[in-house]
Amino acid sequence: MDRPVIDHRRPELPALTAEILEGLGRIFKASGPVVIYPSSGTGAAEAALVNTLSPGDRVLVFETGHFSHIWRTLAERMGLAVDDVPGNWRRGASPVELERRLRADSGHAIKAVIVVHNETSTGVTSRLGELRRAMNAAGHPALLIVDAVSSLASIDYRHDEWEVDVTVAGSQKGLMLPPGLGFNAISEKALAANSSARLPRNYWDWQDMFKQNRIGFFPYTPATNLLFALREALLILEEEGLPNVLRRHDRLAAAARAAVRGWGLEIVCEDPLEYSSSMTAFYTPEGYDADKLRAVILEHFDLSLGTGLSKLAGRVVRIGHLGSLNDLMLAGTLCGIELGLRLAGVPHKDGGVAAALETLAPAAQPAKVG
Ligand SMILES: Cc1ncc(COP(=O)(O)O)c(C=O)c1O
Repeated sequence: MDRPVIDHRRPELPALTAEILEGLGRIFKASGPVVIYPSSGTGAAEAALVNTLSPGDRVLVFETGHFSHIWRTLAERMGLAVDDVPGNWRRGASPVELERRLRADSGHAIKAVIVVHNETSTGVTSRLGELRRAMNAAGHPALLIVDAVSSLASIDYRHDEWEVDVTVAGSQKGLMLPPGLGFNAISEKALAANSSARLPRNYWDWQDMFKQNRIGFFPYTPATNLLFALREALLILEEEGLPNVLRRHDRLAAAARAAVRGWGLEIVCEDPLEYSSSMTAFYTPEGYDADKLRAVILEHFDLSLGTGLSKLAGRVVRIGHLGSLNDLMLAGTLCGIELGLRLAGVPHKDGGVAAALETLAPAAQPAKVG
């Protein structure tokens, strides 16, 4: 990434464009087109809606946390009618409730179902395979739009197999890049919806993007240096192997949860089937401000933990364990938290870090002598 900026109309660009678009397809597990915007994830979310829907269309949004709420606001501002499925911010989208809602919609008024795969505000991962089965069981034709911002390249994700119509992602999480790239992976069905979608669009228009991507270019100035970085990130992921990358995230997440339990604190995610492998959120004890604890840890150790968002402000600390992260980095992070709990006088049990280390490297059984 750290190289001179090139002219984005240079003849070398098409080779780079082709390489990264192909590589992204392997990461999304998508055989259809992927588009790359010079945007954050929110831009890519807007792109997913304006390219597939028309004013007044009804969309179903599962309330899983702060980021699902952002989707709801976005859809409302775009002139869509939102059916909100309430949630307690500790569970993922319910396949049972999805099937019930879709069966009840016999006139097929609902045009899209929107799910945040990994709710970054709570550390809960919705079970997309089951949600897709629920949609198929209901025989409902709604599009499935999925926010994979904090799951892509860190939690198992299967765009084609789960028949996702638009997957939305960004560069700054599992892809290990700085912020600045937004992605849409697109199904055949979403392409068909695109041809009749009437929401206004210009910057986000897929067709303008396809026309230029076909010859290796972009309809406007791409984030050239981030494209170089993306090529490198894809090489790094393929060198480790995506299945190994996912296993590494699972292991680190299990260790982070072991630490939280070892401190005697409560994990936000209620259902072990929905534990997130990219981040873990935990509550501080009643009466102890989570942001004060975070501030102590930042000041003493320069360790930046995620804040509680909206409804969870002051109550929750979020440990991000995704992307370029190894055992020692996670162990260091957990030590920083344990030290911080002591320094801030937050009641907790000893032994969180020890429990995490046991998860990462179980002690060998002593060899029998004699
Ligand atoms: C699940 C999820 N969705 C959407 C977003 C918004 O993405 P961005 O901040 O890149 O616009 C985020 C950001 O953290 C996220 O975690």
